[in-house]
Amino acid sequence: MLFMVDSADLNGIRKCAEFFPIAGVTTNPTIVSSAKTDFKKLLLEIREIIGDDKMLHVQVTSGDAEDMVREAEMLRDFVGGEFYVKIPITEQGLKAIQMCKAEGIGVTTTAIFTQQQALMAARAGADFVAPYVNRMDNLLSDGVHVVEEIVQLFKHQNLDTKILAASFKTCEQVHKIAMSGAHSVTINPELFSSLIYHPMTMYSLDAFDCDWAEVYGNKKVLDILSE
Ligand code: G3P
Repeated sequence: MLFMVDSADLNGIRKCAEFFPIAGVTTNPTIVSSAKTDFKKLLLEIREIIGDDKMLHVQVTSGDAEDMVREAEMLRDFVGGEFYVKIPITEQGLKAIQMCKAEGIGVTTTAIFTQQQALMAARAGADFVAPYVNRMDNLLSDGVHVVEEIVQLFKHQNLDTKILAASFKTCEQVHKIAMSGAHSVTINPELFSSLIYHPMTMYSLDAFDCDWAEVYGNKKVLDILSE
């Protein structure tokens, strides 16, 4: 399963790009707005941090299919590299997905809350569908179960569309989505750190340090081998 960063916070993206094996960055209008900065400059800075090879998913804000496609074309040309336009699952959105695919633009269908929305987006040719796991959980739905069924649906119908699960609050949600067979998740920078944190890991490292220091003092492996 691939990990993407769901953020427009440059420090968070920079940290994730330096330390974690990320496949790309995803944004949405809320995430971009929270950065409270120049939109074009922000996109270029994100691209510079992650490079051309990693995916950058950016959402359109128009509601009409023709305008969404125009935005998609302009974003693709402006952002460059591995680019995916995020298009919401609406009737206009479905039309725009098909038009974008006819032009060879990568598409992620977003704001997915049901299996049938995902299926329709896949049939329209979307490269990714983005089901909102935590938001489903908050609505007395079961986000993991919905994603599991989308995985099955795509398998049964031989659809190449990938599942980019989004909206996460906990490590458990991420783990269950990994077990579902979804292709990728997009999570915020804080959740990246939480996923690898365990108090017993820290305890074990402290014990290694103490045991080593009793015999070798402050010298590290590097010091000893350089002598
Ligand atoms: O990008 C869409 C999704 O990640 C939204 O997440 O946390 O606002 O539900 P959240």
